[in-house]
Amino acid sequence: MSGLIIDRSVASDKLASVVIFASGRGSNLRVICESARLGKIPARIEAVVTNVPGSGANEVAREFDIPALEIDSKGKTRETHEAQVLAALGGLDCAKIDWLVLAGYMRLLSPSFIKHFWAESLAAARIVNIHPSLLPSFPGVEGYGQALSYGVKLTGATVHLVGYGLDDGPIIAQRSLEISGDETLEGLQSRGLELEHSLYTEALANLLKGHWQMSRGSRSEGRPRMVFRQENTGK
Ligand code: GRF
Repeated sequence: MSGLIIDRSVASDKLASVVIFASGRGSNLRVICESARLGKIPARIEAVVTNVPGSGANEVAREFDIPALEIDSKGKTRETHEAQVLAALGGLDCAKIDWLVLAGYMRLLSPSFIKHFWAESLAAARIVNIHPSLLPSFPGVEGYGQALSYGVKLTGATVHLVGYGLDDGPIIAQRSLEISGDETLEGLQSRGLELEHSLYTEALANLLKGHWQMSRGSRSEGRPRMVFRQENTGK
């Protein structure tokens, strides 16, 4: 393939070491934990970090017997909070964490935190995020609400690697949803969430199994993108 940057198409059979960050109800976290338990995602989830005490995500971690590190971010600077997160991860050397997975983590990560997970070969960090819009449209908060207010006919969700910009970084997978004329925000959020659950599970399974290549495609000036091997896209 032209513009090939890195080839990870040789499958790995070992479990990837994963830490998950979440802030809210934890429905994406739940499907990831369930898929890891069933062996659909080859992950050993080392810890779940939450920044909102009493959030659903804490409950989910406990249900799955995964260490839950509750580190309240309220009233703290980004530097202070992130230093506490890194200290709490303690023995878990960032270099030994294969992937940091953001599952509804509603706090921006600072460049100095992202740097701990930076992988030059990916042109991004070893951090994965799911965003509720078809990026680069509607970055930031309330992706479904933004799409509805704008009046677009199509929206969806994006799984991407994290770069230094807001909701930026190489795109791993996207899936779309049509917006009907009488769509409500609640209806769109609920259909979107269902789509996120399957999209995130499939994207993480392919990512962690190592069935991908990073490529610039045929346009050498193009941004790096992740390409999955056809037989493993799960579609
Ligand atoms: C999801 O819509 C996700 O895309 C966004 O926040 C929401 C989290 O939902 N970043 P949940 O906590 O996983 O249920």
